[in-house]
Amino acid sequence: MSETPDLTVLVVGSGGREHALALALARDPKVVAVHAAPGNPGIADCATCHEVDALDPSAVVELAQRLDANLVVVGPEAPLVAGVGDAVRAAGIACFGPNADAAQLEGSKAFAKEIMAAAGVPTGESAVCLTPEDAAAALDRFGAPHVVKDDGLAAGKGVVVTDDRAEALAHAAGCERVVIEEFLDGPEVSLFAISDGTTVLPLQPAQDFKRIFDADEGPNTGGMGAYTPLPWAPEGLVDEVVATVIQPTVDELRRRGTPFVGLVYAGLALTSKGVRVIEFNARFGDPETQPLLSLLESPLGEVLYAAATGTLAEQPALRFADGYAVAVVLSNEGYPGPTVTGRELTGAEGPEVIHAGTARDADGTLRATGGRVLAVVGRGDTLGDARSAAYERIASIGLEGAHYRRDIAATAAEGAQ
Ligand code: AMP
Ligand code: GLY
Repeated sequence: MSETPDLTVLVVGSGGREHALALALARDPKVVAVHAAPGNPGIADCATCHEVDALDPSAVVELAQRLDANLVVVGPEAPLVAGVGDAVRAAGIACFGPNADAAQLEGSKAFAKEIMAAAGVPTGESAVCLTPEDAAAALDRFGAPHVVKDDGLAAGKGVVVTDDRAEALAHAAGCERVVIEEFLDGPEVSLFAISDGTTVLPLQPAQDFKRIFDADEGPNTGGMGAYTPLPWAPEGLVDEVVATVIQPTVDELRRRGTPFVGLVYAGLALTSKGVRVIEFNARFGDPETQPLLSLLESPLGEVLYAAATGTLAEQPALRFADGYAVAVVLSNEGYPGPTVTGRELTGAEGPEVIHAGTARDADGTLRATGGRVLAVVGRGDTLGDARSAAYERIASIGLEGAHYRRDIAATAAEGAQ
């Protein structure tokens, strides 16, 4: 077994996922220091924040060298696609997060479809369309409900699912390259696995709530809440998804000379015909990471370091605390459209409040700056208890015009899917 050195970790990013990562890293006895570039006011409570542009590969490398960091963890997709992983590795520093070529698994939906086809991974049928005529033909081929996806990165907002053909066509017209896909019914599951390019280590399943309003109404967002584990998940789901989806995808990327070192996020639909991949992401999901890492008992720094240095096969299976965790996202007025930002935010202190779009004035006043402002994580022995904890806590946060869904994990807490 390789000995893990004391770890000085630099987390790249400034969202809720990075706050959850920083908190979990800080709990690992092997981690002696956590830094963030650039971080946020919540992260500043458990890490040292540095005013560095997460999208600038050489600035991130310079900071990592100055801090003597021996592990860089890249949180969001944009720095990965911009080549931050490549630059950190080229400087000889262990990096958790794929190189830009492997991050295309998320960066291009058409590339993800190509990898899945080559690896025999089950997914919806689809067509890549470059013209309005192609798009119209594909919509007619697959029928309603229509699923229209912008090919590139769109922060979770590039997908339109609609029965309205005109709306589907209008979304397609606004994208340079569009993927039109068969509609997949059935409950959605997010399954994450840590990969060193060869070996994969799955987390437990979670579920995300993508639409802005209760009962899955309104437009898609980056995610309005999540919970884990899923009491209704079929037995053997994790093993099945690792065997049929995640391992073949990681193997295919390695075979192409673009090994995937980082987090494989499989967004799945459990359809009547079996498991189908809805999307891949190349990083931890947000907000699923918040409840997942709040239950994680394994030492996160050691595990991510093992992935970054190709020794994941030596790691035991990940351990999670018993019980449940629920995250509820508080969003700013107007989200996912243009938002009103800069309003004062109160009651947002404490490790159960995971910051995303917040900023602190010089006088200490906290302000809501992003679309998704924060997430509150509640834990409990039952899903009902975890929900109550999250909802009680979020009710004490003050922000004019704030919105949050009231039904995160509600049906699962009642014993349904
Ligand atoms: P994506 O960015 O690909 O995850 O899509 C965002 C959301 O749109 C997903 O979480 C689903 O709720 C929905 N969606 C995407 N693709 C499909 C599909 N083929 N069938 C049904 N819903 C979909
Ligand atoms: N929770 C959805 C995402 O991270 O893309």
